Amino acid sequence: MKSSTKRQAPGSVRRRAATGATAAFLGLAVALGSGMASPAAAADPAAITGIILGVGANETQRTVTWYSSADTAQKLQVAPTASVVNGEFPADAANFDATGAVNIAASGGFNRHATITGLKEHTAYSYRVGNEGNWSSTYSFKTQDFEGDYDFLFFGDPQIGSSGNLAQDQAGWQDTVDVSLAANPDAELLVSGGDQVETANTESQWNSFLAPDKLRQYPWAPTIGNHDVGGKAYEQHFTTPNTDRSAPLYSNGNPASNVSGGDYWYIYKDVLFINLNSNSYATSQGGGGDAAHIKYVTDVINQHGAEAKWKVLTYHHAIYSPASHAKDNDNKVRRVDFSDAFSKLGVDLVLQGHDHSYSRSYEIKNGQKANPDEKPGAADLYPGPGGVIYVTANSASGSKYYDITKPDSSGTSGAGNGADPQNPNNYWYNSVQNQEHVRTYVKVEVRNDKLVVEDIRSGTCAAPNSEVEQGMSCTNTSTGQPVGSTVDKFQVHPNHGTGQDLQVNVPNPAPGEFGWTIDGYNGLVDLGTAQERNGDHFEASGKINPITVSDTRRSLAPWSISADVGDFKDGDKTFSGSYLGWSPYVLDQGAGATSGESVASGYDDNGKGLSVSRGLAHADQGHARGGAKLGADLGLKIPDSVTKGGYRATLTITALSS
Ligand SMILES: [Fe+2]
Repeated sequence: MKSSTKRQAPGSVRRRAATGATAAFLGLAVALGSGMASPAAAADPAAITGIILGVGANETQRTVTWYSSADTAQKLQVAPTASVVNGEFPADAANFDATGAVNIAASGGFNRHATITGLKEHTAYSYRVGNEGNWSSTYSFKTQDFEGDYDFLFFGDPQIGSSGNLAQDQAGWQDTVDVSLAANPDAELLVSGGDQVETANTESQWNSFLAPDKLRQYPWAPTIGNHDVGGKAYEQHFTTPNTDRSAPLYSNGNPASNVSGGDYWYIYKDVLFINLNSNSYATSQGGGGDAAHIKYVTDVINQHGAEAKWKVLTYHHAIYSPASHAKDNDNKVRRVDFSDAFSKLGVDLVLQGHDHSYSRSYEIKNGQKANPDEKPGAADLYPGPGGVIYVTANSASGSKYYDITKPDSSGTSGAGNGADPQNPNNYWYNSVQNQEHVRTYVKVEVRNDKLVVEDIRSGTCAAPNSEVEQGMSCTNTSTGQPVGSTVDKFQVHPNHGTGQDLQVNVPNPAPGEFGWTIDGYNGLVDLGTAQERNGDHFEASGKINPITVSDTRRSLAPWSISADVGDFKDGDKTFSGSYLGWSPYVLDQGAGATSGESVASGYDDNGKGLSVSRGLAHADQGHARGGAKLGADLGLKIPDSVTKGGYRATLTITALSS
């Protein structure tokens, strides 16, 4: 809230009279926002571990999740990094109370999480968790433009612990995170393909997964894999927005049991992301199976699809992939269940894991290759209505690679795993298949009129490359295919139907400002000579110099203008400002201006008149932008006991704008 004051002095009042009347105090109170002082708390014994930054419901939010060794009240504190001086958070730092619960016995301790809301664009933020006297280290993240182009990164199966050598798996994972973000420091999201760890509730594996500090600087969007599902650690370590944890979205139909589950969605700038717990695929498991996911995706797209340009699905079990899991019966069930629905709903891109190898599909529509003429490895794709691209990510950590498998004679549509006529070693549905036993990640550039998808090497055959270090062959060479080189790259161009879409980018307007001035300000409002009335008092009148208000703020935030007057004085003679009253009005309408109430002279009602702050005009939140001109008629009534003199007083005008 801001305040500003100006003064103008009503002019001289001349008359003869006896005694001077007295003082009234100026009551000018301006409430300025200030942070709550936090009492120094006794040292909290809680040890805080496992902090991870998560994606929120949209680009103005982030979540933070952590473990605590003690069941104490904790919070998340956030402030613009520019306001954190020498590690000290400012008094007006935002505090978000944490919620959470006791962890399962295998994990020990407690989980805590909180959501940061109201972030501003183009801002660096610092945050810490805990409470007074026991804060975690301080971490930071940044926001970027809330509209327009951005990049996100997609990581397949870190599956830490899978190779049997935890340290090597962690080293490979750490290196992929570091390499990918060094190459793409402005990437805005880290999206998971699932299987964060090898064994669901093994916290040593979670500690290795959470080791990269970048996971506290860039928001992670988790996906639940088959290795994460068998316990509660996944739900304890991650907080996700808009999450449906109802029974049908759990593989066993029992959210209270020791398994994790649920589907969630969020919109980040122009992309609607929907994340599914693909561990639940058949009602015979006990949950709602694929039908429940299709209902969820349908509902979310019907309710929110129009809020984004692109629809991207993420789940773990690849339905079109090139390796060990391509012929799995459960994935063939999903392949039949999902394809028609995703085509019908206009999904643009599906990101998957589980098969620890890279592939991207042809444009798939209703379980078939949409365009028989699409060439393998085509760089530019123009999927017509219903065409969906499915990408499967290779291992991001090097903990496990699956080799590409051969097509069979089971057909070239639906659940079939037959060969591509154009490329007989590949499955009919795959445009590109790749396995070198080298770590990779997928970069997705969200652009005005295309998605650019690229699979990029984050390692070579050299360490850290856990499975290769333990004896697996490697077909890459560090000289020929270095870190950062491209495995595959393609562009998805949206279908615009038969009409012509028009596009225009509208930049941010200037933020606007609130201002006010006193018209024709000459510093003096002359009320002339007071006239005697009824033989017992004097009256004088006039008008304040009009006040012009201009409010061009985008926030449409409230404003108000008020005024009060001090005592009228002439040398050592004085009378109270309470004898002055007014009738405010709006001379020129605009800026949401509503005039204040009329105030009588204290002579009439024994009140305080304008000796206390009175509203001249105000506007509420959401008012129109623009300008207004404000005025007021002044009325002075004083008892005839006031001594003759030329009196002056100061009218103090105060503007408040939040
Ligand atoms: Fe998996």
